[in-house]
Amino acid sequence: MILAAGAGTRMKSATPKVLHQIAGRSLVGHALHAAAALEPQRVVVVVRHERDRVAAHIEELAPQALLADQDDIPGTGRAVYCGLSALDATAIAAQVAAGAAGDNSVMETQVEGAIVVTSGDVPLVDGELLGQLVDAHAEHGAAVTVLTAQVPDPTGYGRIVRDDAGEVLAIVEQKDATEDQRAITEINAGIYVFDAAHLRDALSHLGQDNAQGEMYLTDVIAIARAAGGHTHAFVAPDAQSVEGVNDRVQLAALGRALNDRIVEHWMREGVTIVDPATTWIDADVQLAPDATILPGTQLHGATEIATNATVGPDTTLTDVQVGAGATVTRTHGTRAVIDGGATVGPFSFLRPGTHLGADGKIGAFVETKNAAIGAHSKVPHLSYVGDATIGEHSNIGAATIFVNYDGVHKHHTTVGSHVRIGSDNQLIAPVTIGDGAYTGAGATVRRDVPAGSLARNHVPQQVVDGWVVSRRPGTASAKAAKAATEEPQSATSPEAEPPTHPDER
Ligand code: UD1
Ligand code: CA
Repeated sequence: MILAAGAGTRMKSATPKVLHQIAGRSLVGHALHAAAALEPQRVVVVVRHERDRVAAHIEELAPQALLADQDDIPGTGRAVYCGLSALDATAIAAQVAAGAAGDNSVMETQVEGAIVVTSGDVPLVDGELLGQLVDAHAEHGAAVTVLTAQVPDPTGYGRIVRDDAGEVLAIVEQKDATEDQRAITEINAGIYVFDAAHLRDALSHLGQDNAQGEMYLTDVIAIARAAGGHTHAFVAPDAQSVEGVNDRVQLAALGRALNDRIVEHWMREGVTIVDPATTWIDADVQLAPDATILPGTQLHGATEIATNATVGPDTTLTDVQVGAGATVTRTHGTRAVIDGGATVGPFSFLRPGTHLGADGKIGAFVETKNAAIGAHSKVPHLSYVGDATIGEHSNIGAATIFVNYDGVHKHHTTVGSHVRIGSDNQLIAPVTIGDGAYTGAGATVRRDVPAGSLARNHVPQQVVDGWVVSRRPGTASAKAAKAATEEPQSATSPEAEPPTHPDER
């Protein structure tokens, strides 16, 4: 059961706290992920604040999760009461369904066994730690097992009150604690395993007589104990992993801590990460051994980097696949595929739908969008390639623009294989350039170019002798022109060649 109904007022945000993200995943997403690792019979998420936004998010991440609505009564205890009622309702529904099918062996009208309760705002708790908690609960035959931690500064947390023998007696909230209790440095992580029957019973006895006027889940400890149940505390080996997010300072601190863990994990898996401090890797990113990540790189979403690829420095990739041995330098890319051996950057902008084939190149100051660039093809300099298919072994000259937008609609350009597009071309879509075709420098290509032909359409260059001296007299250019034309020919410099542009011959 994941508690996600609270407002999270200390975030001071229009976005519900549990939807804020670290490592590319919402806080409640981290909780769902950890819960899934336990392979529970059911997952229930308690919602209320910004209910529809939170519910839509959970339905997207975990469609099989049950949503329970908390009612008007505030507090974590009430949240669990509402979650348990929703679980019990499914037990009744299962019995009714079985009965209708003539199967009377399904007797339970209430869920039984161990119920793990976690918070939607404690994102570093993972499946492994939850597993240890569940094991400890079973080992001690406990009614309640609470996850605790020893922390240097316990401010804001519930304190664990033990007797002289170390038995857990109660949890006291900061606002309700005496001076002596506030000095306790063992805190409640807000994560528990309950025996369902003990929990159900204790929840029916919860009051709201406390500093916050809320039904505290923490009161279940003392109630279960009074009812004869054993209450056990499991101390987390690493205190930071149980820290909660209540404000944006904690959000950043835990984001940093989680990133440190992820970066360390990948280094131990054989990835070279030159500067862990400036490398940010989301939880769902996949890296292969012998990949190299250079400083200032952020890898987001479902990005995958294959072996021997080098990414960075100063590169941000979101949902990008980088093939084996590829190099991606100072690049910003989203939803793109870069095949093995290809090179990208520096200063490239890959927008969604870019696919660069094996050993291809996207070079400096090139923007691509919805563009399939075939193997060994190159777009080396200063170009825009949008809505295009380019075959293999083709070269796109510097400063070529794929003119894909007529102001209303987008159109597609197809360039074949072994094509040579001259520099500073405009390919006005829709247009097709056949295999092995060439285009001249500066061409504006409006009509299809058949395979093997040359397209050119610029006008021959005009030269107007003496124009600057006569039309811009007195300028620095005119002076320079005069000096150049009046200068006596030096004996060693050869005669200036006449213009020999091939198009003018
Ligand atoms: C809670 C614990 C505290 C513990 C701390 C650990 C209680 C009374 N206190 O305090 O002992 O040290 O967590 O982080 O349980 N929620 C609901 N419905 C509500 C109120 C809260 O679902 O009516 C959810 C919140 O969305 C959140 C979680 O419960 O995910 C914890 O709520 P929060 O208000 O942050 O509790 P804390 O004051 O941190
Ligand atoms: Ca909290």
